[in-house]
Parts: sequence; C-alpha cells; structure tokens
Amino acid sequence: MNLDNIMMNEEKKEVIFLLGATGGIGKLLAEELKRNEYIIVGNGRKENVLISMKNEGKIDDYVVGDLTNDEDRKKIIEKIKEYVNKGYKVTVFYNIGILYDYPGEFKNYTNKMIDDSYEINVKSIEKMDNELEKNDLYLDTIYMVSISAFYRGNWDHEYQKTKAALKAHAELQILNSNGRRIIALFPDTIKTGEEGMGSKLKEYPKIPGEIFVKKVVEIINGKYKEYSGFIFEIDNNNIIKLYGINPSKITNAFEYLEKEFIEEIGKAVY
Ligand SMILES: NC(=O)c1ccc[n+]([C@@H]2O[C@H](COP(=O)([O-])OP(=O)(O)OC[C@H]3O[C@@H](n4cnc5c(N)ncnc54)[C@H](OP(=O)(O)O)[C@@H]3O)[C@@H](O)[C@H]2O)c1
Repeated sequence: MNLDNIMMNEEKKEVIFLLGATGGIGKLLAEELKRNEYIIVGNGRKENVLISMKNEGKIDDYVVGDLTNDEDRKKIIEKIKEYVNKGYKVTVFYNIGILYDYPGEFKNYTNKMIDDSYEINVKSIEKMDNELEKNDLYLDTIYMVSISAFYRGNWDHEYQKTKAALKAHAELQILNSNGRRIIALFPDTIKTGEEGMGSKLKEYPKIPGEIFVKKVVEIINGKYKEYSGFIFEIDNNNIIKLYGINPSKITNAFEYLEKEFIEEIGKAVY
C-alpha cells in the first residue's frame, strides 16, 4: 500500500485504526466512517474479510492479525508509525470482543473460556495501549465497552466482568490522558443482521446498527465534546436514549447514576 497515493486521493488526513473491523459492528462502522471521509485501516484475524472489505472500498488499508499475539500487535504499531511519520492524525478504535453463548452456571465455564475472554476483551487492549505509550504514541482512543460494564445479569458472566475491567482501563487512561481525546462507548444490545454478537441475545430488544454507527461517527466528529463516555440505553418502551457521562469527581470512575440525558435516537428492534 502506497501511503502517498492515499494522501493524494484524500483531503482529510485523519486515519482510524479500526481494530475489530471484520464483524457485525466493524463493517457498518467502516462504511459510516468512510462516508465521513476518514481513512480506515482495518484489523482482524479474518484475512479474507479484510481483503473483500478493501476491494469493496470499505477500508483503505489493513493489517491481518490477532491482537492477543505479541508479534501481530507489533505489526499494527509499525503500521501506525508509518502513518504518524507521514503526518496523519491517527485514532485507535478498539472494537474487538468475544461473547459466549451463555453456558449456564458459572461452573460450566472452562479455564480456556475464562482465559480467552480476558485475553481478547481486556488484556490485548491493555497491552496494545501500553506498547503504544512505550513508543511515545499518545493517540486519540475509542473503547467499545458495553452497557453491561454497569449491570450484572444471567448471561455470559465473563463478558460482563471483562467489560467492567475494560471500563476501569478506560477510566485510568482518561485520568492520564496526556492531551488525548478518549471516548468510551457503553451501548445496549445492537442488531447487525446475522453477524455480530447481538444476534446471540435473541430475546433482547436491539439498537439498529445503522442508527448506532451514525451516532458514533457524529461523536467522533466532535459532537458532544463535553463528555468522554456515552451510554446508549433502551428504555422499557423500546426507546433508545443517548446519555453523556464523565468520570465521577469522587471515584474517577463512570458512575451510572451521574449520566446526563442527551437525546432520543430511535426505536429498538428485535
Ligand atoms: N453487538 C452488540 O450487541 C454489542 C453491544 C455492546 C457492545 N458490543 C461490542 O462491540 C464490539 C463489536 O461487536 P460485534 O457485535 O460486531 O461482534 P463480532 O461480530 O463478533 O465482532 C468481533 C470483532 O472482534 C474481532 N476479534 C475478536 N477476537 C480478535 C482477536 N483476537 N484479534 C483481533 N480481532 C479480534 C473480530 O475479528 P476476527 O474474527 O476477524 O478476528 C471481529 O472483527 C465488541 O467489543 C462488543 O463487545 C457489541
């Protein structure tokens, strides 16, 4: 990939590294970000999906790789450095995640399931951030957390715990932001067709993926700059409500009860 060609073809010099580009939300996000003239570098383990996304013009460039793998993270960091050295503003968007079909009681989880949940949902992201900072790369960052970081329920327990841990990581990154813009997203269940983890939660109302990604890109474009966190919640009447939130002055954590209503953004679907 010749970065000079990209530079000539694109007026905007903002690049988003979309880590977790190949799934339900990732594909929709890539499309919406492209519509807003961002340059997108996709990542995921599925090379065939990245190639077809590139051919369809949904991404400009990609790095195939497993974010839990040390060598693969190095490849992504090298690619980030290439863009930074060419004068691009780079944002990292962590959209990766794993959700299990609920195996029932806690004793049904295997050690591997517990390990993989933390490796993918939390540790890969923490390690990547740690390595970026060791390379003096303090980049704007977006964390796709989940509303489940605030709630506990009887569905994939490990998912909920790991998202609570990711929320804690984002809170500490905000505390030491070094001038970066850091955004944490806390969405309710999202519908992205047959793909996407929302399809595993069949009985839950869902935010249409297209509505969700439109709002996320508006947030990235600078709307609602006064908030660092965003809760997308479906109320009992199936209305999707957007709330802004900042870390509490007392705990430095995002406290659910301190959220501020912004607007209604649509109706949930099943
Ligand atoms: N869908 C919902 O209802 C919902 C609600 C709240 C939050 N979220 C969050 O939104 C994000 C995307 O969810 P989704 O519904 O689009 O799920 P998805 O379709 O399962 O997509 C997951 C993405 O993560 C990537 N990924 C997983 N393990 C990886 C690894 N080891 N290395 C690199 N990439 C990896 C996958 O790429 P490869 O398979 O190509 O590696 C894929 O692009 C997740 O963080 C999820 O927790 C989703």
